Amino acid sequence: MKSAAKWITSPRNAGEAAFTYRKDFVPAKAVKKATLCASAIGVYALWINGTRVGKGVLTPGWTSYAHRVQYQTYDVTDLLTANTRIELGVGQGWAVGYIGYANTNHFFDDKVSLIAWMDVLYEDGTHEAIVTDESWEVYTSEVTSSEIYHGETVDKTAPIERVGNAIPSDVKTKLVPQVGEWITEQERLAPVEVIRTPKGELVLDFGQNLTGYVEIRIKGKRGDRIVMRHAEVLDQDGNFYAANMRAAKNRNVYVLSGGEDLFKPTYSFQGFRYVRLSQYPFETVDVNNFRAVVVHSELKRTGWFHCGNEKINQLYHNIIWGQKSNYLDVPTDCPQRDERLGWTGDAQVFCRTAAINFDVERFFRKWMGDVALEQGKDGHVLGVVPNCFHGYSTRISAAWGDAACVIPWQLYLAYGDRGLLKKQFPMMKKWVGYMHSVGPEEFLWLGGRHYGDWLAIDGGEDACEGATSKDLIASAFFAYSTQLVIQAGEVLGEDVSEYRELYQNVRAAFRGRFMKDGLPAPNSIDADSPTLSLQVQSRQMTQTALVLILYFGLYEASERQGLVDALVDMIRENGTRMATGFVGTPYILHVLSEHGHTDLAYELLMQEKSPSWLYSVNHGATTMWEHWNGIKDDGSFWRPAMNSFNHYAYGAVFDWIFGVSCGIRPIAEAPAYKEILLAPSPNKCLGFADTSIASRHGLIRSHWYYKGDTVYYEFEIPCGVTAHLRLPSGYTETLTAGIYHFAE
Ligand code: BGC
Repeated sequence: MKSAAKWITSPRNAGEAAFTYRKDFVPAKAVKKATLCASAIGVYALWINGTRVGKGVLTPGWTSYAHRVQYQTYDVTDLLTANTRIELGVGQGWAVGYIGYANTNHFFDDKVSLIAWMDVLYEDGTHEAIVTDESWEVYTSEVTSSEIYHGETVDKTAPIERVGNAIPSDVKTKLVPQVGEWITEQERLAPVEVIRTPKGELVLDFGQNLTGYVEIRIKGKRGDRIVMRHAEVLDQDGNFYAANMRAAKNRNVYVLSGGEDLFKPTYSFQGFRYVRLSQYPFETVDVNNFRAVVVHSELKRTGWFHCGNEKINQLYHNIIWGQKSNYLDVPTDCPQRDERLGWTGDAQVFCRTAAINFDVERFFRKWMGDVALEQGKDGHVLGVVPNCFHGYSTRISAAWGDAACVIPWQLYLAYGDRGLLKKQFPMMKKWVGYMHSVGPEEFLWLGGRHYGDWLAIDGGEDACEGATSKDLIASAFFAYSTQLVIQAGEVLGEDVSEYRELYQNVRAAFRGRFMKDGLPAPNSIDADSPTLSLQVQSRQMTQTALVLILYFGLYEASERQGLVDALVDMIRENGTRMATGFVGTPYILHVLSEHGHTDLAYELLMQEKSPSWLYSVNHGATTMWEHWNGIKDDGSFWRPAMNSFNHYAYGAVFDWIFGVSCGIRPIAEAPAYKEILLAPSPNKCLGFADTSIASRHGLIRSHWYYKGDTVYYEFEIPCGVTAHLRLPSGYTETLTAGIYHFAE
């Protein structure tokens, strides 16, 4: 039946409007079961007899359209009537609208298309097929324009006109059943305040930065208009601030019908906390008419955390909301400006934390599938997947492309699916093969166009790229990913001798070029790595360089202390603060606690001066910020060109809180938390910490608290899980199912 359905489109290009494709159908006999499948190039919504069908929004979701597009399946048995009207509305979405940056559109096609087929099984056992073809009629709709970045206009007074019959559309891609999670409306938040800003703007504050849209229930005069824009923050004077949205307009316009109206976008979404009503037909705002609808991939919550420090609790809240906001079918960098892209580096950095907070296995199975599909023949992996840049290609960058190795390994640790790892193994090897193939030196990755230690402050106040040598970062990740291939190969029983040899060579070459007397060598200029913004003098002696050498094990035992001391000194010299960006930050606390400096790790965690995690908390953040000092101490903003207040990357710190402070760590020999290392590292600054994870083997909980100088521990181990306990005193024990108490 799928093969009988045709891709169709409108005889008149809808442009930014969303047309409706209609088919009327009279069932011939009593219906036993009816199943409808649909997909689109664009985003579609399905109605039967006026009822919206299915829990999903923004279907069919975002995949590498050139390779595959998902279709969804709906049981519509109960919706069929004697005269059934099937309607599919299609907006431009990711495939046709603006994407990449707001000046690029039509990435995949210059018009929307759709396909649907319905199997009707009658009581007598016969079937009837309804499929998209030229008999479907096309109508205009009340959605007169819709863009993901720019927002949606819904005009309830717009005449609905017949455009004509659908025409066939030549769509070249593969239809696949939905592989990812549904994107759904998850929760609704009421405004916490109606603000009149100093400029006189009328602004609603939802109290939480989020991704989704505002739903408005309203009755007014026919033709009255609501015009609203979205923003994440107010400026230092308390006025609406949307400059950091760059070219994304995030503007929804609603024209009232005169009756009871319910408005919300169907084919667009926004990232926001504040909404400015620049046109509103009433004197006062009734907050009951407004709800912020939180939209993201439907992920099961698996992790929880609470401690005795309210600022750290707020940080955790911000991490969770950063993930909710950016796990919308694709792991995106941010949900608001003209970007919202599957940046591989951001995804890689955060995936370990992500897999604690939520069950992300299916979510990543889909996205990693696209990473593999888009991987070049030479093994390269781009900075953005699905790639949606015309002409301008994103970079092939170390720490971004390494998503191909890091994520499969983290998924294996969290969920233990060997089958999935096996499927992803060729992608891992190809990425390492790519790094091996790029010259000029066989065992190093020199030159290239990297993002470097993105947004590290040591690159200079206004720079996007940190100071750490990109050659050093790239070669260190070459070693690390090779190591991950070896680990994965061992799990899979593959022959990895070639990679063992490669690893030794890369390690030796790394040490030869980048280290001298046990420390990062004096600076050398990177081979050939243009910077994105300001010219940054690259350095090899940076916090991030030391962190990578230590975390990736690129040192000899005799050098360990020197490296650790150097890192500690640099942190102290910097006022007990990090100078790390996207690359170094996720590992810095792990490195400190692994090498005897857990107290310093806590000091960094508790640091409140920028760069620090609590700086943004002190500035009222409700999600993670992209930039350490997105809002500066004097209240002014960092450059609007790169200043999202909803970027999850630095939220990766939670895997230290969970894995080290609370001490729950999966182990590769018995993944998915079947066996764990249970090694909490309590510290008085938190008072207590209580975390749990609903693992594939049951709920594991680690809780510690102080009474005076004594630490009390409570652990809960589910049936079938073995925990290798190691308390700070050195006490060890093997725990199986049960609830345990210790004190020391
Ligand atoms: C994104 C980042 C991304 C970066 C590449 C930015 O525009 O928002 O999060 O990783 O580009 O360095």
